[in-house]
Amino acid sequence: MNPLTDVDRGQCPEHFSFGTSFADHMFTQKFNQEFGWHKAEIRPLEELRLHPGASVLHYSQEIFEGLKAYRRTDGGINLFRPDANATRFNRSAARMVMPEVDAGLHVEAIKELVSLDRAWVPSGDGSSLYIRPTMIATSPKLGLGAANNYLHYIITGPAGPYYAEGFNPVSVYVSHEFRRAVKGGVGEAKTGGNYAASLFCSEDAAKRGFTQVLWLDAIEGRFVEEVGAMNICFVYDGKLIKTPALSGSILPGITRDSLLQLAPTLDYEVEESKLDIQQIIDDISSGKITEVFGCGTAAVVSPVGKIAMKDKEYVINGGKTGPVASKLFETLTAIQYGVIDDPFNWIVSVD
Ligand SMILES: Cc1ncc(COP(=O)(O)O)c(C=O)c1O
Repeated sequence: MNPLTDVDRGQCPEHFSFGTSFADHMFTQKFNQEFGWHKAEIRPLEELRLHPGASVLHYSQEIFEGLKAYRRTDGGINLFRPDANATRFNRSAARMVMPEVDAGLHVEAIKELVSLDRAWVPSGDGSSLYIRPTMIATSPKLGLGAANNYLHYIITGPAGPYYAEGFNPVSVYVSHEFRRAVKGGVGEAKTGGNYAASLFCSEDAAKRGFTQVLWLDAIEGRFVEEVGAMNICFVYDGKLIKTPALSGSILPGITRDSLLQLAPTLDYEVEESKLDIQQIIDDISSGKITEVFGCGTAAVVSPVGKIAMKDKEYVINGGKTGPVASKLFETLTAIQYGVIDDPFNWIVSVD
């Protein structure tokens, strides 16, 4: 038995829960001032030993990533844009004053790890192996300042279909009280503190009966930024897809970038611009906006059926999933699972 997961080693159990079932191995490497990154290895998954004064535990000097490995119908395994993901990891590292990793080694480590734990890549419809690269500051140091020592590690675990109960729209709540990130802050870095800070607001939205929070910019409280932990898109008249331009406080999503490239090949127009929430609400009310959806690695595309703002609710497309969200979801997932060709060179095969 795997002491960390309580499941038999060497295979993906039939029933697992996302985020709490882990595959057997992990990649680790260490950084110190003398040797830089060193001691890169793949070893059995085990608990970390950390000094209780490790800076990550006090000042959250931490970054992480999320990407997936997909089981093809021929039994092979695809990674989706691991290079873009490694680039974002290093951008987050630079913002958090952490040492960048060799992106080539990082991607190779993912490939080797997934290959070794290939039995953990589920083959059920819509399932995948979730990959979580992480870096933490390990120096015992209570004085505030960048650490000298770091641990870079990668763990993986199976993820079931996001839409086990159907490709159904979610409801979102426009928060005027809380902000996710501010321009000049760390919103465009994938660092743990952003997510810890969002928990209170997500719980608040849940208490009001909504699935996700729609985040506005922190300076004017006027421009749309993201939805939950996803980027957001608005479809005009079934053909123009508008998404907020990257502002410095929006996480540059890899799914967002992929949809911006994919959509024009499916005859949709795309636009990145500043989107005023009042204009969005007016355009939903007048029927100009025909669909709204979030996008990210976890869900790929997540239709939004209802937006609530200042005690009023606005229903989109009769609360149903629309054709643009469906088409983009089907096409992007078909590329990820190797069902159709990948003209973008996004897929990296693990063989
Ligand atoms: C805050 C936030 N926005 C957007 C995204 C979507 O990014 P991606 O498409 O790279 O998963 C994520 C997920 O990582 C996120 O955490």
